[in-house]
Amino acid sequence: MSKAKEQKSSSGISFIMVLVLLLSIAGLAFGAYKLIMDGKDTVPPTGSITMKVGEVRTLETVIGTDFTCQIYDESIAVIDETHLLTATAAGSTTIVAQSPDGKSQVFSLTVTGEGVVFVTETTTTTTTTETTTMETTTQPLPEGSVTGIELTFYSVTLKVGEKKMPIVTMFPADANDKSEKWTSTDDKVAKVDWLGNITAVAPGTCTIRVTSVNNPNVYAEVSVTVPGASTTTTTTTTTAATTTTTTTSALSSSTTTTTTTNAANADGLTYVQGILIANKTYGLPADYNPGVDSAAQAAFNTMQAAAKKDGKSLSICSGFRSYALQKTLYDKYVKRDGKAKADTYSARPGHSEHQTGLAFDINKASDSFANTPEAKWLADNCWKYGFIIRYPKGKEHITGYKYEPWHIRYLGTELAEKVYRSGKTLEEYLGITSVYQD
Ligand code: DAL
Ligand code: ZN
Repeated sequence: MSKAKEQKSSSGISFIMVLVLLLSIAGLAFGAYKLIMDGKDTVPPTGSITMKVGEVRTLETVIGTDFTCQIYDESIAVIDETHLLTATAAGSTTIVAQSPDGKSQVFSLTVTGEGVVFVTETTTTTTTTETTTMETTTQPLPEGSVTGIELTFYSVTLKVGEKKMPIVTMFPADANDKSEKWTSTDDKVAKVDWLGNITAVAPGTCTIRVTSVNNPNVYAEVSVTVPGASTTTTTTTTTAATTTTTTTSALSSSTTTTTTTNAANADGLTYVQGILIANKTYGLPADYNPGVDSAAQAAFNTMQAAAKKDGKSLSICSGFRSYALQKTLYDKYVKRDGKAKADTYSARPGHSEHQTGLAFDINKASDSFANTPEAKWLADNCWKYGFIIRYPKGKEHITGYKYEPWHIRYLGTELAEKVYRSGKTLEEYLGITSVYQD
């Protein structure tokens, strides 16, 4: 081969190598992007926003520009269809942005009356649980401060004597000092050493916390359960027609047995007469992540088109919610209103119908929706498209939740019509309860 030819072919090989390298980098970048963006399988991204009363700005998300928004306290801020966010009163609230394909981003909004308040919010989540820390200071954090902690698990069940250690990741990666401080709320239940080794000591529950030494406002927690005398175990045996659930408390040595007609339990999911149930009695596994059900979405699209012909505008303001997203919301409500009140309007993580992918909130999850022409249209017509108003007025003691004219559940047209015509709630129709065990 002549020198010129050799050079030409070696530069050709180099070009191919560079091309392969670039394609690999693009592949990796796309993989990382998918990991962040796929709201179905990962924790919803979070953000913090601070505004002054009267300030207006456009909400930008990492889930794209096509999204709907829910502001959980509309006395603090409002948002219009063009995503223009207006701060109306001092306080803090949560904003959940959701794209039509099920991605979501949760924002913490703090509105100040005057002056600038710097808010650091660190939310670390997995599909099983998450920890939120919110700290308000008057100064931005110094350069190189720790702003977040992520753990490889957030809840664990250990037998007495068993040990487990979560792996800790502190953010940002180039933080100056990533030292950890470990504490337990009850050393008698589970202790933790300076490295984060958790050891179960005796039956009970407690919380292990790892705090950043550099920024003590940032921490993450692991809920520890050590089963034993004071814990409750539930075993479920399924037959074709009935499910018998036996709950045994070793502490009280008592046994209660409840029988549910036509219930079947598969992989932690409960079906009654073939209908997937998520209510206060029946939960869903934390890793149950189906995304929006395609039949429910198609039925909604058809219903939306029919409503439009009648001059009504319907949109989904909250669709599929992962366990982690529900936990973020529920925990915030508990913080704001206390557990008893939160339980009247927000499902505990693992108990929301939104996690089935078969429930939608329409237009606005707010009492102000009730008197709109859209709410009336929905109540009168949704059954035709396979939906029911899941938490009707006057049935709070049965469903376990306050009236939610905006929350619809997909059952398919045949069953939705039957339930609608019966005038019963889904619980009454199927003969089941909706009550938390604790
Ligand atoms: N608001 C309903 C009950 C939920 O949180 O799923
Ligand atoms: Zn809902």
